[in-house]
Amino acid sequence: MAISLAFDVYGTLIDTHGVVTQLEKVLNSSVSAKGFSQTWRDKQLEYSFRRGLMRQYERFSVCTHDALNYTCLHYGITLSDDDKQVLLGRYSALPAFDDVVDGLTALKREGFHLYAFSNGAAEAVESLLEKANIRDFFADVVSVDDLQTFKPNPDVYQHFILRSNSSMETAWLISSNPFDVIGALSAGLKAAWVKRSEDAVFDPWGLEPTTTITKIPDLVTKLLSQ
Ligand code: 2OP
Repeated sequence: MAISLAFDVYGTLIDTHGVVTQLEKVLNSSVSAKGFSQTWRDKQLEYSFRRGLMRQYERFSVCTHDALNYTCLHYGITLSDDDKQVLLGRYSALPAFDDVVDGLTALKREGFHLYAFSNGAAEAVESLLEKANIRDFFADVVSVDDLQTFKPNPDVYQHFILRSNSSMETAWLISSNPFDVIGALSAGLKAAWVKRSEDAVFDPWGLEPTTTITKIPDLVTKLLSQ
């Protein structure tokens, strides 16, 4: 039976720190653009977790927008509405990591069924993948928006199984986000952790990724040897 691969999008296929160059243009030199970008991303995810727990769903784009406002407050920075619009526009046209096209090409050649599976709403993810020139690799885009909650709610992983017509035995999550990997493992899927930086730490919860890779092309041999 064909193996279905659910690719997390933000941080795994698409580099969320692709906003750093734009941030350097609008921030004064006393604020690190990288630090700002990291706080923005961390807060965006925290807002998604909190909205999921509180059952106060708003789309991921709202979490991104609110997290940008938080980050400005955190750093004591006033940005104009125009600057915020430019940053949010950049966030909807982020680049793919360098290894992604080679990895997806090789996986598709080997007959794996590829899906994008994201906290982002389907239209936003479709457009992001189109702009990064990687949409055509995927059979479908599966979004948590269908269920109005966020990863790592176990329901969203079950939703992926249903939407992709796969099974727990044949479905893998591929993600750089440890919370996503642990969510998928705990829901019964297999999961590959993409350790995108040397200093990335996996949460010590007693659950280990089924496999760990540092770049997407390495997944091919790992999956073929399973
Ligand atoms: C995604 O779902 C978690 O941001 C990550 O694309």
